[in-house]
Amino acid sequence: MNQAFENYASNYDLNDEEIKYKYLHSYRVKNLADILSQNFSEEDRYLANIIGLYHDIGRFEQDKKFNSFYDGSTFDHANYGVKLLIENNIIRQIPVEEKYYNIIEKAIKNHNKYKIEEGLTPKELLHAKIIRDADKLDILTSRSKGIALKKDINFNDNEFKIRESIINNFYSNKQIEINKQDKTPRTTAEKIIIYLAMIFDLNFDKSKDYLVKNNILNNLYNRLQNKDKYKEYFDYVNKYLEKR
Ligand SMILES: [Fe+2]
Repeated sequence: MNQAFENYASNYDLNDEEIKYKYLHSYRVKNLADILSQNFSEEDRYLANIIGLYHDIGRFEQDKKFNSFYDGSTFDHANYGVKLLIENNIIRQIPVEEKYYNIIEKAIKNHNKYKIEEGLTPKELLHAKIIRDADKLDILTSRSKGIALKKDINFNDNEFKIRESIINNFYSNKQIEINKQDKTPRTTAEKIIIYLAMIFDLNFDKSKDYLVKNNILNNLYNRLQNKDKYKEYFDYVNKYLEKR
């Protein structure tokens, strides 16, 4: 199932930091989607692997065209990815029956939205949930290992500033919605809080178990400067995970 992905990615410069990041992220998410779907049917597990690998196919062109991964000022990379799979015939090169196309498309389309759209079939919903969790787990796991784009996060940032709206959102146990109107660049501290708040949107206990078993939050915490300032947020999320 990797061949069509490899073919497509080979049109881009894999030495470029951003392209390489998304290429590797795609394989990591595929692997995480596989772990999360282990207890589902073979069919669902296979679909979860495909969706994991192809979910960010829209990122390559987004980076090439705009040198940015910010959907607000470029395009919605998930909608674009679905369009690409269909119009460029990529989906036809993946060894999967056509009856599964809707599931793949709906899951990819919904992977980056604040909430999953209404009206999905149970299978579409299941796969939207798997990819959303796998994607978030990779972001948290990568950052905990220090894997991040330079422009994305600076672990040695000494500044600690978090705007009120992000703090309020965090303490309502809600994933933080990116306000496209708000043009103030996010600080590293805000990005960390946004990553932590992703945990409130996880769908499966298995995803939460993964974070706990792999010590992800502690590893992330230990990378940060000004640890003491982040402590209340990490304590809060750790408690949330314990309560599950
Ligand atoms: Fe994405």
